Amino acid sequence: MKILVLNGPNLNLLGKREPGVYGHTTLADVEAQVRGVAQELGVDLEFRQSNHEGELVTWIQEAMGVMDGIVINPAAYTHTSVALRDAISAVQIPTIEVHISNVHAREDFRHHSYTAAVTLGQVVGLGTNGYEWALRALHRHLAG
Ligand code: DQA
Repeated sequence: MKILVLNGPNLNLLGKREPGVYGHTTLADVEAQVRGVAQELGVDLEFRQSNHEGELVTWIQEAMGVMDGIVINPAAYTHTSVALRDAISAVQIPTIEVHISNVHAREDFRHHSYTAAVTLGQVVGLGTNGYEWALRALHRHLAG
């Protein structure tokens, strides 16, 4: 089973960026955690981050026929990107959306997700552990 973990803009700054909101865990720490879980589950994992919307769209397209599932934290593109939504919808790969913070307890503009409706579901507000829960949920879904 192959799962792609995608991270959107500014998540490369995790650990340094607004630690009161996102915590002190770095993206490298998150990657190490999910790699450990992937190993336990027998999942082949790809872990990537980009600050560019088009690059994320390309990676989703390239996952077609290659990846069995996608875990994505689209970050700010969650609230703006029809292109990411269309890419997820186009490839028809089961996808789970992750948000580290509880976006519903924050500014109004974070309450709407363009991508959520084309995903299997969301893990929201559970901190960086949300990536692990998303991976476990996707594995369970795919192993059926
Ligand atoms: C985020 C929430 C988004 O609103 C924000 O733009 C991010 C991170 C989260 O993981 O909590 O960059 O996706």
